[in-house]
Amino acid sequence: MIPIVKPIIGEEEIHAVKEVLQSGMLAEGRVSREFEKQFAGYVGAKHATVTTNGTTALSTALEAMEIQPGDEVITTPFTFIASANTISMVGAVPVFVDVRPDTYNMDPTLIEEAISDKTRAIMPVHIFGNPCEMGPIMEIAEKHNLMVIEDACQAHGATVDGKMVGSIGHVATFSFYATKNLMTGEGGMITTNSQEIHNRCLMIKNHGRGPEGGYTHYRIGYNYRMLDIVAALGVVQMERMPVVVKRRRENAKAYDEFFQGIEQATPQVVLSGMDSAYHVYAPRILSKKIVRDELVE
Ligand SMILES: Cc1ncc(COP(=O)(O)O)c(C=O)c1O
Repeated sequence: MIPIVKPIIGEEEIHAVKEVLQSGMLAEGRVSREFEKQFAGYVGAKHATVTTNGTTALSTALEAMEIQPGDEVITTPFTFIASANTISMVGAVPVFVDVRPDTYNMDPTLIEEAISDKTRAIMPVHIFGNPCEMGPIMEIAEKHNLMVIEDACQAHGATVDGKMVGSIGHVATFSFYATKNLMTGEGGMITTNSQEIHNRCLMIKNHGRGPEGGYTHYRIGYNYRMLDIVAALGVVQMERMPVVVKRRRENAKAYDEFFQGIEQATPQVVLSGMDSAYHVYAPRILSKKIVRDELVE
């Protein structure tokens, strides 16, 4: 059986972590800043902020967007629970728009009928690394004056018309959980082009502290800081990203060819102009005559 994931931990990762341990500075600092800089450059976003995981990245971003209790946020039911959970965590209400059966992503043609006078934002999820239809989603958001938060927790390296996911919505979040294309065991990142959202994220994830540091706290906040021990893994994994994504695309192409000869199942559709990061290769079984385990065999 092919394992769902095999994290790549080489000598480089071990050396980078050892260096942080020997430096005596373990908490969020210089190495986290380096990881943020490299990640923002990779995604093509102006700002990036590390957090403890993808869930805290999502909840911090939602708070930074000033989503209030009672507000509605449109998302997809076909995702990991953290997408909807974080909407509830900030007191808002997740409103589900169904997915397209071919892409498994939010169907943009169903979004407008889900908009009410309480809707504040749309949270598309690039499921399995397959990018959502960001063009139509951004157009609908603009028309109705809504914010867009991309849940890119599974989609590091995916692109829409040559643009990396995480640089298209008003804000985006990534997870570096141990199974992800870029992994640090646990970890998260928020990317945005908005200075205002970025500034709020910095405060929310660090006890509401102001940019001057010290013990002046301007708002209620949390401790969602990343360890530099963890960021050290991220910096090394950044270097591996182009190869990891390329290999996943090559593997996906081989599976796609295989599925051309299979009637009972079909690959997840990646729409024209998009490049999936293939966090997961998830074909859909079309016939009741075959069960999953037979297909895997
Ligand atoms: C789509 C999606 N959103 C959010 C998360 C939450 O990330 P984390 O597990 O790092 O908290 C995940 C994690 O798997 C995810 O797949």
